[in-house]
Formats: sequence, C-alpha cells, structure tokens
Amino acid sequence: MTRLVVHPASAPLTGSVSVPSDKSIGHRALLFSALCEGTSRISSFSRGEDNLATMACLRALGVLIDEKGPHDLVVHGVGLHGLTRPTGELDCGNSGTTMRLLAGVLAAQPFGSVLTGDASLSGRPMLRIAKPLRARGGTVEGRPHPKREGDLTAPLSVGPLAKGRALTGLTYESPVSSAQVKSAVLLSGLFADGPTYFNEPTVSRDHTERLLLALGAPLETTGSVVRLDPSGWSGVMPAQDIDIPGDLSAAAFLLVAAQLVPESRVSVRAVGVNPTRTGILEIARDMGAGLAIEPSGERAGEPLATLHAWYAPLRGARAGGEVVARAIDEVPIVCALAARASGTTTLTDAEELRVKESDRLAVMAKVLHAFGVACEERPDGLVIEGREGPLEGGAEVESRGDHRIAMTAAVLALAARAPSVVHDVDCIGTSFPKFVATLRGLGARVDVVS
Ligand code: S3P
Repeated sequence: MTRLVVHPASAPLTGSVSVPSDKSIGHRALLFSALCEGTSRISSFSRGEDNLATMACLRALGVLIDEKGPHDLVVHGVGLHGLTRPTGELDCGNSGTTMRLLAGVLAAQPFGSVLTGDASLSGRPMLRIAKPLRARGGTVEGRPHPKREGDLTAPLSVGPLAKGRALTGLTYESPVSSAQVKSAVLLSGLFADGPTYFNEPTVSRDHTERLLLALGAPLETTGSVVRLDPSGWSGVMPAQDIDIPGDLSAAAFLLVAAQLVPESRVSVRAVGVNPTRTGILEIARDMGAGLAIEPSGERAGEPLATLHAWYAPLRGARAGGEVVARAIDEVPIVCALAARASGTTTLTDAEELRVKESDRLAVMAKVLHAFGVACEERPDGLVIEGREGPLEGGAEVESRGDHRIAMTAAVLALAARAPSVVHDVDCIGTSFPKFVATLRGLGARVDVVS
C-alpha cells in the first residue's frame, strides 16, 4: 500500500493552481447526459476514480461515451427509456453518489440490476434510499446492515419494475439532509406517474436541481421543498454541453494548507462556489483565516470564483447546524484548521460523518491525537483544543482508505515538527489524483513510497 512521507514545510506555500473538476457535478453531468436525447459534450471532466465508476456503470447500461481527451467526453444520450439491461453487476467502487443516484434511475427500469461497491461502500447505509424508492413502488433489496439494526447495505438489487407499471408520485420528508437521497428521489420522479415533493431538514447541495432545470425538467424549488411534476411534460431532456467547475472540496485542502504554513499565499482558479457548498469558507473566515473570493462568472449554471488564501492567525470557533451541512465533506479539513487555531473549536451536528467513506469523527480524533492535538469525540462532533506553533512531528497515521482523511493528514503534517507518514493513500485517487503534485507545486516536500 502506498504511503506518503510529508516533511514539515520549511518555506511558505506559494502559487496559483487549479483543482480537478467538481466530483458531485461530474457524476450528474454524466448520468443526466445519458438520460438526455442527443449528444452532449462534457468538458473539464475529472478523472477521479469516483467519476470513472459512474462512467463505467453507464457504459454497462448501454450508454456510448467517447473520450475525446482525458477531460473531454461525448455522451450519446439514450433518453429516459433507452438504458439496457447490464451484462453484469454494476461496480460503484468507493462512490456512494454513484450507487445512490443510479438506484433512483434503476428502480424505474423494466430490468433488474445489482449494484456493488468496495468494502467501505458495502458498509454504508442504504435504507435511506430504499425507503422512498419502495414507497413509490420500486424494488430495492440489500444485505442486512451488520452494524445498524434495520438498515441495509450493498450489494443492492434494484428493480425490475413489472411490465405496465410505473413508479407513483411521492411526498417525502427525508430525516437526513442528503443530496444523494434527494437526487435518488428526484431522478426516480422523472419516471413517475405523479408529482414528487421532497423536503429535508436543511438544504443539501443543489447540483441536481440546477442541472435538471437547465435540461428542461419540470422542477421547482420553494425553500427546502423541491417539487417535480412530470404531468404534461414531454419526458424529453435535450442534450446540452456541460463544462464542470473546479471542486471546492478539493480546493479546501490547499486553502487550509496556506493557513497552516507561515507566510503562505495560494490561489485556486475556477472553483465552483455554489452557496450550498461554501460552508468551509464561512467557517474558515470565522476562525480568522486569510481568504478572499474573486468571482469569475458562471459555469454549468454554478457560480465560479478564484479563491485566494493567505496565512493568518487562527482562533477557535463553534460550527454547527446548517453551515456544517454546507461543509459536510470539509469537516476533516476544518479539524486541521482547528488544530492550529488558538482556543477551542466545537463542531456539532456532524453525525452524518460517521457514515461517510469512514467514520470520519472517530478517525479524525485518532489523527489529531497522533499530531498531539487534544480532541474529544462526541456523538455528533468533535471538540478540539488547538494552539499556535508546530504540531508534534513524526506522526504515523492511517487513512482507513478514506481520501479526505489521507489529504487532511498530509496537510496537518506540513505544520509538524518532524516528518510524518500517512499510510494507505491510494484512496486519494478517488477525488484528487494530482493532490501530491499540486502540493509539491506550491513548494511542499512530499515523498510517495510504494
Ligand atoms: C454528495 C452528497 C454528500 C457528500 C458526497 C457527495 C453528492 O453525501 O458527502 O461526498 O454528490 O450528492 P450525502 O448525500 O450522503 O450527504
């Protein structure tokens, strides 16, 4: 297994870089283009393994996708009713988004499909999508979850829908704020014979709504309620070209690295700054981080900006509620900020982190301890006692196969007294294959050892 040896930064991090395109939008661009009629061109496609998993599944469902270049795809849409029975199981790899969004579409098909994933994905909760899909007449079966009573997990068997049957309309109050659940429900709603109403405790990322609207789907949003009413709709989504913005979730590692290494100044270009994703910027600013947002127009219906970050003294802060929901993937890297902030940082309402690629609250607590940072784990968050000055060096940490943990540990290691080792880092390829090269480009010293 590959590991990283990260050396304490001996000079400021400086430079202007780009990051891979947004993984969430990449999945949706592929899947929705497949359901369009006609040919769509997707540019700035990220070759992270998660996005590649969605591409492979769609190909197995009969969708022709040409790769014109590494980041340029042409998707030959098959329309809402043109997917074909897959030849084998659909391997979603590490990607919860692939599995949950595809399940929404596959529940409406006249053929059955089996969705599988790696060890991490095969431990993630799936009742959250099975429940609403079953409530509208879909079939979703899974393995009883070994740890969560009453829940189920992959492999999932989805469909078939009996001949002549359609999914029904659905009003669904989701107990969790989750864009994957929302998207599974809305996608299945495209095939339903009645309207879909979806509500959630706080609004999760809205890329599905934005893209479906742009493709002419009959959708409208009022507050946290999304309504999709296919009555009187042609059922045709005309193909469109989609250029995907940079991933704020990837940029976050670099923006935080700049806060941890004195005198650093880093810019990240062409990053998507959809307000349902910018919780990290608000939390970082509350902690005193040096950050500026320079708007640079729009891409794929999403606001775009160059983000500038510079080293500044940090102070502890409290973050919970809706801002945490809008920073749900950035909580690990917020912990890195907290480690270097003077005073206490309290993160609450983050219980969803326990069912991500790893139990991110438990794993982050271990990582922080390894760097000598005092941290108390709570059921829904962490309380972190940070301090200025270098962290304990020579830390050895395990990523537990979780890309965001691996990258957070690498960033923390830049602020340590001695070189640190991050084990099991191949997972970084799921979202940010050029992470090490990008950090090196900013001046960090990182060795890759296989
Ligand atoms: C995602 C939604 C979030 C997020 C994940 C990507 C998406 O998951 O954590 O990385 O693309 O819809 P949940 O829907 O489980 O909150």
